[in-house]
Amino acid sequence: MAAIQSVMQETRVIAPPQGMVEGAAVSGMPAYQALVAEAERDFEGFWARLAREHLEWKKPFTKVLDSSAAPFFKWFEDGKLNASYNCLDRQVAAGLGDKVAIRFESDDGQVTPVTYKALLARVCRLANALKAMGIKAGDRVIIYMPMTVEGVMAMQACARIGATHSVVFGGFSAKSLHERIIDAGAVAILTADEQMRGGKALPIKSIVDEALAMGGCEAVRNVVVYRRTAGAVAMTAGRDQWLHDLEAGQADTCEPEWVSAEHPLFILYTSGSTGRPKGIQHSTGGYLLWALLTMKWTFDIKPGDVFWCTADIGWVTGHSYVAYGPLAAGATEIVFEGVPTYPNAGRFWDMIARHKCSIFYTAPTAIRSLIKACDVDPAAHPKKRDLSSLRILGSVGEPINPEAWMWYHDNVGGGRCPIVDTFWQTETGGHMITPLPGATPLVPGSCTLPLPGIFAAIVDETGHDVENGNGGILVVKKPWPSMLRTIWGDPERYRKTYFPAELGGNLYLAGDGAVRDRVSGYFTIMGRIDDVLNVSGHRLGTMEIESALVANSRLVAEAAVVGRPDDMTGEAVVAFVVLKGKRPEGEDAKAMARELRDWVGREIGPIAKPKEIRFGDNLPKTRSGKIMRRLLRTIARGEEITQDVSTLENPAILEQLKRAI
Ligand code: WT7
Repeated sequence: MAAIQSVMQETRVIAPPQGMVEGAAVSGMPAYQALVAEAERDFEGFWARLAREHLEWKKPFTKVLDSSAAPFFKWFEDGKLNASYNCLDRQVAAGLGDKVAIRFESDDGQVTPVTYKALLARVCRLANALKAMGIKAGDRVIIYMPMTVEGVMAMQACARIGATHSVVFGGFSAKSLHERIIDAGAVAILTADEQMRGGKALPIKSIVDEALAMGGCEAVRNVVVYRRTAGAVAMTAGRDQWLHDLEAGQADTCEPEWVSAEHPLFILYTSGSTGRPKGIQHSTGGYLLWALLTMKWTFDIKPGDVFWCTADIGWVTGHSYVAYGPLAAGATEIVFEGVPTYPNAGRFWDMIARHKCSIFYTAPTAIRSLIKACDVDPAAHPKKRDLSSLRILGSVGEPINPEAWMWYHDNVGGGRCPIVDTFWQTETGGHMITPLPGATPLVPGSCTLPLPGIFAAIVDETGHDVENGNGGILVVKKPWPSMLRTIWGDPERYRKTYFPAELGGNLYLAGDGAVRDRVSGYFTIMGRIDDVLNVSGHRLGTMEIESALVANSRLVAEAAVVGRPDDMTGEAVVAFVVLKGKRPEGEDAKAMARELRDWVGREIGPIAKPKEIRFGDNLPKTRSGKIMRRLLRTIARGEEITQDVSTLENPAILEQLKRAI
């Protein structure tokens, strides 16, 4: 530990609390190192042991890993299982039927506990209803639902019958939804009448109607609507049905569909460096194994814990650590419909106190905004609540700055709770690099060490290892069970994006830059190295936003989008726009910027709205016509341009773009 201390800029090192080490799933650094060594010594044997010990198989697998078509890896392929069975039936069979699986808290604070037995019965009813509609294993079903018990049920019901779900975050626009319906080739959509957020009812069903009206969705034969608010919605006869009507007509048992471990459990769309989102396809067996195992290793989940992951089911965190992991672990979890600032910025802390939450998992952006909220409203401070139930804190989605880390540690965790800063991605299915609460000494701002079995490394542009202390490209050298299997419908893009030839074709490219500490080997993530932005923990492609802007062919001639560091949101979107008409100034520019921001909100969703838009008569381009984004990034940051601009076609444009509205 002294070694870690001596070299890192960050000098604070926090040892795991003694009480946490004893009885932890991974108890102490020697236990961690033993698992790492086991995976190194006998890679396949290691994963086979874990898959046999932690999952229940209908038919055991005989082969662990098939690399014959690498990088299209197959894990446990001839084994058969069902994800919903492993999450629900298994708990009921183990005598946990009356244990609360989900403690749901609505936006307005009503609490509804749902036991494992009750959840299983409702999942079975819905699964039977889906089957009665003719939906079968392998069919794709879109889930466009708010954070509710019914949202989790929808995912579990699909898993039960082997239908591959694709959850679309409720904040995405009709156009984004439409794009995903078409790409996935969906046959049904599960949705709600409206969603409640911060005291307001927002539309959902009407957005589904709008998306379906955009055309090309003839394959969608059924729309199931959960009545959340009883607000007025249009129901299309022969296509739309109420969830409660369907449930009422079905039996509360349903034989699970036993699928191959490689059967696609879900597709989840995420942003990449081109305009088109990628459908990340995950497996059943390998994915579930890791969702469950990381619940045990990273969160040290115990029977008495109350687990709360604040992520929406529309993101991968809400898949692995709301819909699957906690249930597979037989835990009690909180599912929260609302937002952290309603009715006030003390909501998270109030809920932790009321529900006696013991493991809390959220995003740095939420922490930073709640820190700031305390300045405005001292009553919202976590120290004003009894948070003594907490034992472990987690962070996910973006780098956590050491100041926010310390605040979280001291004020929320009372200085007693380890923080697991979990680095992972939609593509990785579960945690990759993270501290273990009963083992790893913590360094604020570092995600520390890879989990056992995960061969993370840092390489240069040619795929060669760099020495610790030098920054480079984060890669994973061996496959792991919960890795993505392909990009839905585009295997070539999968290969090119994640196993690029430049790195030798056999390293998984995460897309992040990172550095390892010279002595401890601890990883620190430096952020994306591609055209992907991380705004409030949401992943956005710059090309996607550019495409959305130029899709406004009436107004926009050209657009370039870059990121800029932001204290609150991590990164902020800055757009440089050339209009078809005259370049606006003053109030006109403000009004135009507002119009274009709203346009992007409608094209993609409110999360993609640029924080700032600047107008120019042109964009800085090389003589061959390439936009120099590097320069735009410098301008967006408000920094002096030190780059060579002699190759620019039009250097005068820089002065114009430097002026913010
Ligand atoms: C990207 C993946 C992981 C689920 C939520 C986001 C960034 C994620 C961390 C962390 C630093 C992080 C990376 C990564 N990221 N976790 N603990 N420290 N950066 O999933 O939308 O697929 O985004 O989020 O840049 O590549 P995602």
